[in-house]
Amino acid sequence: MHSLLFLVYNFYHMDKSAKDPEKIQGMFSTIAPRYDLLNRVLSLGIDGRWRKFAVNQLPRVQNARFIDIAAGTCDVALEIIRQHPEVTKIAAVDFSEGMLALGREKVSQAGLSDRIDVRFGDATQLPFEDNTFDGSTIAFGIRNVQDYMLGIREMGRVVKSGGRVVILEFTSIQGRFFRPLYVFYITRVLPFIG
Ligand SMILES: C[S@@+](CC[C@H](N)C(=O)[O-])C[C@H]1O[C@@H](n2cnc3c(N)ncnc32)[C@H](O)[C@@H]1O
Repeated sequence: MHSLLFLVYNFYHMDKSAKDPEKIQGMFSTIAPRYDLLNRVLSLGIDGRWRKFAVNQLPRVQNARFIDIAAGTCDVALEIIRQHPEVTKIAAVDFSEGMLALGREKVSQAGLSDRIDVRFGDATQLPFEDNTFDGSTIAFGIRNVQDYMLGIREMGRVVKSGGRVVILEFTSIQGRFFRPLYVFYITRVLPFIG
């Protein structure tokens, strides 16, 4: 309960000083066993469609190599394989061991361990050479990266010229009618579900 409230709070009110990487790592490792279920419930099941849309933005290249950053439980990496059968290899990188453990399990159950390399890594210091991949993705992760401009630069650094960097993230809703509803949902409904 505590970790979920912390998570929801973080998503919408985080400033740079609050994005302490150690706290973020700990929070996601704590919440990892419930992460997929929470995603489905809190997004009312729409999160899968958002990931599909993001993955569809990746270029179609034979023998492509992609990297998914802040990969969590590997939903994006698995979606890449579904949509891009031409892909040779995906690197799924995250800095929470708890999330990676679940990701590895899902990848192994899908029989894809030879194509999805699930590994530890920090978004601001990716353990790859320049120009390695045909595309990079990050889904619901950039908001957690303390120096997000550095994270975005890293996404570009590891992608070949002509490749694509895809970022999937929430925005905040403005407008007289929708904003109060949105704030009510974020501050009341989500914590209640948690
Ligand atoms: C909300 S989850 C998103 C997981 C996954 N991308 C998805 O679509 O469900 C955010 C993930 O970002 C990871 N993360 C946050 N900051 C990171 C960083 N600096 N480097 C690597 N991973 C990071 C967390 O460990 C967590 O697994």
